[in-house]
Amino acid sequence: MIILNIPLIHRLRDAKGEFVPLAELGANLVAVRADLDEIETFGFAIERHPYQGVAYRGPSRRLCPDQIECGLDTLRIGRRVAVWNRVSSTNDLAARAAQSSANEGLVVLAEEQTAGRGRRGRSWTAPPRSSILMSVLLFPSPGLAGTPWLTALGAVATAEVVADWTGLDARIKWPNDVRVGGRKIAGILVERGSAAVVGIGLNANVAFDDLSAELRATATSLCLLGGGPVDRSELARALIVRLDHWYNRGLIGGPETLNSPWRERSEHLGQAVRMTTTSGPLFGRLDDLDLLRGLTLAVPDDRPRQIPNHEVLALSPLDPEGSGEA
Ligand code: BTN
Repeated sequence: MIILNIPLIHRLRDAKGEFVPLAELGANLVAVRADLDEIETFGFAIERHPYQGVAYRGPSRRLCPDQIECGLDTLRIGRRVAVWNRVSSTNDLAARAAQSSANEGLVVLAEEQTAGRGRRGRSWTAPPRSSILMSVLLFPSPGLAGTPWLTALGAVATAEVVADWTGLDARIKWPNDVRVGGRKIAGILVERGSAAVVGIGLNANVAFDDLSAELRATATSLCLLGGGPVDRSELARALIVRLDHWYNRGLIGGPETLNSPWRERSEHLGQAVRMTTTSGPLFGRLDDLDLLRGLTLAVPDDRPRQIPNHEVLALSPLDPEGSGEA
């Protein structure tokens, strides 16, 4: 149920900082004022002027569930959006809803995680109210259920949103990092039980000072890439829309549908790489990535090798310039 008058927020925001006369915001001025009070109380910045009207000054620093959900016409992902203040891990919360497949597409967002997880047992940290910490609960059909596909789903959708918001080239560093200019901006963690949880951590309003000394050299955020703080509710919504788009295409057209966007955004395609596989290291040029067939490596003086996705443990470029890992 949407409580805040989101169309009113949109109307003010569309005026791009100009005052909008109160009378243009609705016939019932008492109701308009009450709606404005609620909007302000939630944390949106608006300026009221006795003669000129009202001007939009900025989004709420809190994630706004109404803003995320209002008019969201996705088919599966985001049919229900839960926003929490502080959780251990959004992945844990989403997994709790796995008892019922009616919860397919549930999106859990949090302002803060006390035990956020990354891949390979690492932790994932972000200052409160700075980032997108999102988990999506899915009951994928068997063809999509493999972890590579779900990781690619999260990575492609996130890379598209990052590219869209920054106008910069966002790339996927196999298997789960989204990077801009060689710096990590987002990571995907897929966890499986009776259902699948796709967890996405996207650095949105993370300032340079918020990054640890180690991450300053390897990580970035949307606000660091220019333009200042972003509206995280709009960002979360954009991410939900792209996730839903590719998930539905996968359900209808099969896992192959994600191959070409995944390939196109892959950071190391065509590059010389070192691949750690379950049977040892391999060196060669990464000639292809395929979510079903695996990774194709052109090996000097030999025929190309195709390594199934589940046998690849790590992939890094031989050129150290492109090897930054956050
Ligand atoms: C990685 O790059 O290692 C993956 C990071 C994934 C972080 C996200 S934040 C939301 C979700 N909840 C978690 O505990 N982890 C994922």
